[in-house]
Amino acid sequence: MSTPATVNPFLEVVQARRSAMNFVEGVKIPQSELEEIFSHTRLAPSAFNLQHARYKVIADPELKEKVRESAYGQYKIHTASAVIVVLGDMHAYEQAPEIYGGLKMLGAMSQEEYDGVIGAINQAYIGKEAFQRDEAIRNASLSAMQFMLIAKDKGWDTCPMIGFDPEAVKNVLGLPDHLVPVMLITIGKDNQRKIRPRGYRKPVGEFVDFM
Ligand SMILES: Cc1cc2nc3c(=O)[nH]c(=O)nc-3n(C[C@H](O)[C@H](O)[C@H](O)COP(=O)(O)O)c2cc1C
Repeated sequence: MSTPATVNPFLEVVQARRSAMNFVEGVKIPQSELEEIFSHTRLAPSAFNLQHARYKVIADPELKEKVRESAYGQYKIHTASAVIVVLGDMHAYEQAPEIYGGLKMLGAMSQEEYDGVIGAINQAYIGKEAFQRDEAIRNASLSAMQFMLIAKDKGWDTCPMIGFDPEAVKNVLGLPDHLVPVMLITIGKDNQRKIRPRGYRKPVGEFVDFM
């Protein structure tokens, strides 16, 4: 008797996530559902636990159209339930005392450990603009991936998007210079009529070297 294949729910979500080509128009996404998705997104890793990712959720149709203009008119922003602007905070390191202060207060971290980590963070980030920018993008990207997988798990489809003018997005939202637009994520219900077959994926041997 053959054993039934076990279903791994996490891998099912990984397999099922696709970049939506288009969305069913007029579907509203409740804020409570987005809050639930973000409550798990916040568990994503980040360098020094600095949590560089920031999100602006735009469900308001008028503002969504303005963001769409900054994204070369991509139609899926029009049909999406919301467009989410993923930002990376170049000044995330400034919150290190807040992030680590709680651990110190609880006694989970000694004063010496606290001073050590704050010193290491300051040394890595202060005055290093290129590194601050790399880190903003790197860490926000990891957070964004987690967001998309959790959204899929909760029944929502997404599409990450780099096709936008970062300066135009910054102007529309009035963003300060230390918040780097990393990507847009459209979210909604995939319009099933427009699903395309999964694009070619390189075999493992082509992109991994075991050394
Ligand atoms: C950083 C990034 C930027 C992307 N930008 C766009 C975009 O501007 N517009 C779009 O339709 N798809 C965009 N995509 C989606 C890709 O085309 C898609 O992920 C790829 O073809 C693989 O398909 P899959 O996500 O369905 O597996 C982007 C994906 C990533 C990761």
